Amino acid sequence: AEPLRIALAGLGTVGAGVIRLLDANRELITRRAGREIAIVAVSARDRTKDRGVDLSRFAWEDDMTAMAARGDVDVVVELVGGSDGPALTLARNAIRDGKALVTANKAMIAHHGLSLAKEAETAGVALKFEAAVAGGIPVIKGLREGAAANAIERIYGILNGTCNYILSTMEDTGRDFGDVLGDAQRLGYAESDPTFDIEGIDAAHKLSILASIAFGAELDFANVDTTGISALRAADIAQAESLGYVIRLIGLAETDQGGGGQTRLFQRVQPCLVPYGHPLAHVDGPTNAVVTEGNFSGRLLFQGAGAGDGPTASAVVADLIDIARGEIGAAFSVPVDELEKLEPATSGHR
Ligand code: HSE
Repeated sequence: AEPLRIALAGLGTVGAGVIRLLDANRELITRRAGREIAIVAVSARDRTKDRGVDLSRFAWEDDMTAMAARGDVDVVVELVGGSDGPALTLARNAIRDGKALVTANKAMIAHHGLSLAKEAETAGVALKFEAAVAGGIPVIKGLREGAAANAIERIYGILNGTCNYILSTMEDTGRDFGDVLGDAQRLGYAESDPTFDIEGIDAAHKLSILASIAFGAELDFANVDTTGISALRAADIAQAESLGYVIRLIGLAETDQGGGGQTRLFQRVQPCLVPYGHPLAHVDGPTNAVVTEGNFSGRLLFQGAGAGDGPTASAVVADLIDIARGEIGAAFSVPVDELEKLEPATSGHR
């Protein structure tokens, strides 16, 4: 079979990880995909930076948005980041040019996922973003496929590796917030602007994507009620501990019935007290964990690395394998026009 030809835009932690993963597991990936997955072109802001991978075998594009028009490419992988700007231009152009799009960009999907999905449906191409939510955990596939037969009643969990690393390290060592944040940045967990991590925005991006898939509802990032962890101090953590709790940044989405009987969508990200007996209290480091409650599956717990090169690359390549096998699917489980528009339950919930 013909190889699946990839243009890779963005060569940061995750981009370099994708190249390393495709090299290391080439044989098994080819077998499982039914054909070779071959990167043909790459692009990034800085051509000279040493990323520890050999780029000489790929064509280089200075203008990453030009990847969309290449005739020798079937799929564009967007790992540039940013909700708008070059990432969005590249994504829209690629889809309009009939290319499948794989992205790890939760900000872009949270803001523009519905319009991109609509464009992908019109063009008849795949739009996939497993890597955008919870790094290496296949939670989107878990919801779309594993829990497909269920009405999901609630979905919640730890959706930001940086915050979880900060909170659990402060807990274990009593170190300072800023000091531990510096570690998370050096280790490649944090976003380029760590405000998105510590103010809960990154978790809110991911929660809105999960809620849309879980409830078959239109994505509604604007109505995620969001509080981050930047106001927390070591003393808060110590006090929680003395009461038998740990503090975790939790994203939660559920539906309820409003006064008029209409279904409403409640979405909130905030630091929560988690009792020692709860599984989420033992999720440490840059780990993510997502709990779903389905009406027939019962409670499911997805847990694993929520950030970092290997885990996130693993999710990107899983999407590429789906595309190599010809699986297009609907980006949000059902076609965009079939998603329900739910009222936000921002106040008076319960
Ligand atoms: N900055 C994100 C996190 C990376 O810390 O979880 C993965 O989306």
